Amino acid sequence: MPHVVTQSCVGDGSCVFACPVNCIQPTPDDPAFELAEMLHIDPVTCVDCGACVTACPVDAIKPHTKLTADETAFAGINAEYHSVTRARAPMAPVRPPLRVRDRGEPLRVAIVGSGPAAMYAADELLTIPGLRVSIYERRPVPDGLVRTGVAPDHRRTRRVSRQFEQIRRHPGLTMHYGVQVGRDVTHDELLAGHHAVIYAVGAATDRRLQVPGAELPGAIPATALVGWYNGHPDHAGRTIDLSHRRAVVVGNGNVALDIARILTVDPDTLAGSDIAPAALEALRGSRIEEVVVAARRGPAHSAFTLPELVGLVASPGVALAVDPQELAAAAAGDPKIELLRGLPPHTGSPRRITLRYNLAPAAVRGDGRVEAMTFERTTVDERGAVVGTGEHETIDAGLLVTSIGYRGVPLGGLPFDDAAGIVPNQDGRVVDPATGAAVPGTYVVGWIKRGPSGFIGTNKGCSQDTVAALVEDHNDGRLPSPPAIGDGPRPSAAVTHRRRARRALTRALS
Ligand SMILES: Cc1cc2nc3c(=O)[nH]c(=O)nc-3n(C[C@H](O)[C@H](O)[C@H](O)COP(=O)(O)OP(=O)(O)OC[C@H]3O[C@@H](n4cnc5c(N)ncnc54)[C@H](O)[C@@H]3O)c2cc1C
Ligand SMILES: NC(=O)c1ccc[n+]([C@@H]2O[C@H](COP(=O)([O-])OP(=O)(O)OC[C@H]3O[C@@H](n4cnc5c(N)ncnc54)[C@H](OP(=O)(O)O)[C@@H]3O)[C@@H](O)[C@H]2O)c1
Repeated sequence: MPHVVTQSCVGDGSCVFACPVNCIQPTPDDPAFELAEMLHIDPVTCVDCGACVTACPVDAIKPHTKLTADETAFAGINAEYHSVTRARAPMAPVRPPLRVRDRGEPLRVAIVGSGPAAMYAADELLTIPGLRVSIYERRPVPDGLVRTGVAPDHRRTRRVSRQFEQIRRHPGLTMHYGVQVGRDVTHDELLAGHHAVIYAVGAATDRRLQVPGAELPGAIPATALVGWYNGHPDHAGRTIDLSHRRAVVVGNGNVALDIARILTVDPDTLAGSDIAPAALEALRGSRIEEVVVAARRGPAHSAFTLPELVGLVASPGVALAVDPQELAAAAAGDPKIELLRGLPPHTGSPRRITLRYNLAPAAVRGDGRVEAMTFERTTVDERGAVVGTGEHETIDAGLLVTSIGYRGVPLGGLPFDDAAGIVPNQDGRVVDPATGAAVPGTYVVGWIKRGPSGFIGTNKGCSQDTVAALVEDHNDGRLPSPPAIGDGPRPSAAVTHRRRARRALTRALS
């Protein structure tokens, strides 16, 4: 068996396009692509050329002879996928090149944000000769969640930023850091200087747990804890109380697994990673012995993905436990369940992660701070909906982390769908929900377009779709022509950062 895709796969499909024999699946034009937890190389048809190795931005692909002991499971995962899908004819991944009508002046596009969705949108736009892109990023550094979300010890995944750095070197692209659109520059000001504005602002906040006591000290959302250990300036100064024996994480997506791992691994293994020094110091003094990861549904509905579970099980010094009783009802054959069933008994490890199931949060208990979490036991009906049983269970804990999903925030000048936490759009064109009409020259990509789900690479196809819509609007004459800079609306307040932002805007247009 020649090459194997491993855990750090970000699913951007670069390898698919590089492969001369189309042995990597699912391909981006396959409906299965969006739901895939990773890409898979067919060991039967792989010709061992290594083209995919070079194309992969995160070094996720290795010859089978170079797999480490922790990675050998991925050989089976790749092969298993193809043993099921080989019967299907392989599809050719074809995305037609952008065809742009010449309208006399080069297109100028502003992108707000510099995370994966922004960078993939810029990359696609810059295939258009003469086009100029200006990126406005509120932070002093680029890459969005690749820097402030991806776990600090997942260094191979973080290498995707090298690919984004390459994109930033394009002469048609200008970066403007420290500019928060909506505060320093308005939407109208941006539109006055560009033919189109693409919002790639991600999902900056979190879904709130709506149970009594959720605001008690000691309860924090994943956004804050992740920001803390990754040194995000909004959260770096926090003090996280790690003085209790047990922490509970509500939700069992990949973010919950990241958090549970960071809270339980030997801090020495994090030294030398990208972890914030203050967080590492605090973790060295942590008294946490157990992190309970509580899901409201059963094991078959675990939100974490197989590659992340494989990686967690293989993490040195991490003990993972699940009560066999909780797995008893789960059907055989699901690789996640099989992996959980095969977990060795946890002995001797000072800290452990316990996966719990069928527990819906009911109340946070505590006198002035978190002391325990009460859950209602649940079952799941045939439609997958959570049904409470009326039975309750209380788990003592001094730290409660709610990891139940991120959430977009409204941006001045744009419509917002409060229920979904996204900017309402059709194929990336922002639409006014009252009239259903497209807001001229205004687009979205990434998590603010689709909601907070998907891997880094999922944003690539998403951004390409939006850019295709933008180009179609340009070709059909639907993009507004920007007035010369200075003719647009004046900034409403002459504070320093606004002046800096305006100077950046002027520079971008000069
Ligand atoms: C904790 C966590 C860990 C993850 N780990 C992985 C992983 O290991 N592998 C993987 O494949 N995927 C991972 N993901 C998913 C991946 O990070 C997302 O799919 C991706 O980052 C979403 O890209 P985005 O560009 O839409 O948003 P973001 O990455 O959030 O980028 C948004 C950018 O916009 C900027 N911004 C926001 N508002 C403004 C404004 N008003 N003006 C100017 N700039 C603004 C922000 O500062 C930020 O730079 C993880 C996600 C999370 C939450
Ligand atoms: N290494 C990686 O590749 C990596 C790492 C981190 C994140 N990511 C990606 O980033 C995206 C976001 O990850 P995420 O973990 O934040 O979100 P997620 O995968 O959507 O998981 C959210 C979890 O919260 C639960 N939940 C939601 N509302 C709840 C409520 N009211 N009460 C109790 N539980 C609730 C969900 O349960 P239900 O399933 O029952 O709704 C689910 O277990 C995902 O696509 C993920 O794959 C990838």
